[in-house]
Amino acid sequence: MADGTARRMMQQRQPERIVSGQAYDEDARIDVSVRPKRLEEYIGQKRVKENIQIAIDAARSRGEALDHVLLYGPPGLGKTTLAQIIANELNVPIKTSAGPLLERKGDLTAILTSLESKEVFFMDEIHRLQPAVEEVLYPAMEDFRVDLIIGQGPGARIHPFQLGHFTLIGATTRAGLITAPLRSRFGIVHRLDFYEPEDLLIITHRSAKILNIQMDEGGAEEISRRCRGTPRIANRLLRRARDFAEVRAAGRITRAVAQEALAMLGVDESGLDEVDRNLMIALLDKYAGGPVGLGTLAAALSEEEDAIEEMYEPYLMQLGLIDRTPRGRVATPRAYEYFGRDLPRRQPRLF
Ligand code: ADE
Repeated sequence: MADGTARRMMQQRQPERIVSGQAYDEDARIDVSVRPKRLEEYIGQKRVKENIQIAIDAARSRGEALDHVLLYGPPGLGKTTLAQIIANELNVPIKTSAGPLLERKGDLTAILTSLESKEVFFMDEIHRLQPAVEEVLYPAMEDFRVDLIIGQGPGARIHPFQLGHFTLIGATTRAGLITAPLRSRFGIVHRLDFYEPEDLLIITHRSAKILNIQMDEGGAEEISRRCRGTPRIANRLLRRARDFAEVRAAGRITRAVAQEALAMLGVDESGLDEVDRNLMIALLDKYAGGPVGLGTLAAALSEEEDAIEEMYEPYLMQLGLIDRTPRGRVATPRAYEYFGRDLPRRQPRLF
């Protein structure tokens, strides 16, 4: 199961967005070829990488399964990649699934009982597990046990079944939606952050090399500046810039080629697209810079609240264009400057 597959299945009617961190079918195919296989090839996320390396070395030297790992952060930053790397480094097999795919307790039990000792079980979108299914995970994670129910009705009996010592790697874009009992059963918890520009530059060059794409430093800089701190988006912009370069510019991605290709796709200097701009302009003009509630903003844009919180806002906050306050979303002074609006004058104090 590729990254975000369950979500893709459920959101097929939504138009694809060039700067979305979510995986589309093409990404899933291409990501596999550019995805690093070992920790030493994985660029960025230095602190997370160091901590995981230590945990892996310790588990290996003790000959034990790695503690359960929870990875969270915006989509496209490499949670699935990291899970696969962990399995590779531990030299163990990996099985993957996703919260929304496990509809009944039996779906999860079937996977858990099939796991070998030390095997990695990667569960994407773990925040979307049904509560009844999630409860199966508690004894499985803690005591490596599932309670099988044999028979039905009054004669039904609980039969404890011992599992191999596996490692669960959970991934989520919404750490706030993970329940406390689930969260507390992970021994290793890491947040993946947007990547630094210098790391994105290396990643973009690395992908271009693997995919045999000709690109100069200027082209790589433009792509890594506009990819919203997200390797998956960098890889997608790289492919679109290559298309443009092949059709209009002798096949080489230079700075000018990248600028023109990305402008044609509606991606601006900082990686904002039309949806971001509509959101910011609604906030600035329709709601006078806020504060405005998430529900109101979502209705004005005909978007889901979840999509705004999960996909648009994290990067707008990272750029310092929007703030979340207890009274709602507000545009920052930088947003007024970015969109060429005059800063509103402060109301004079009356007392
Ligand atoms: N491709 C996508 N993410 C990557 C990363 N973190 N390091 C190297 N290559 C990548």
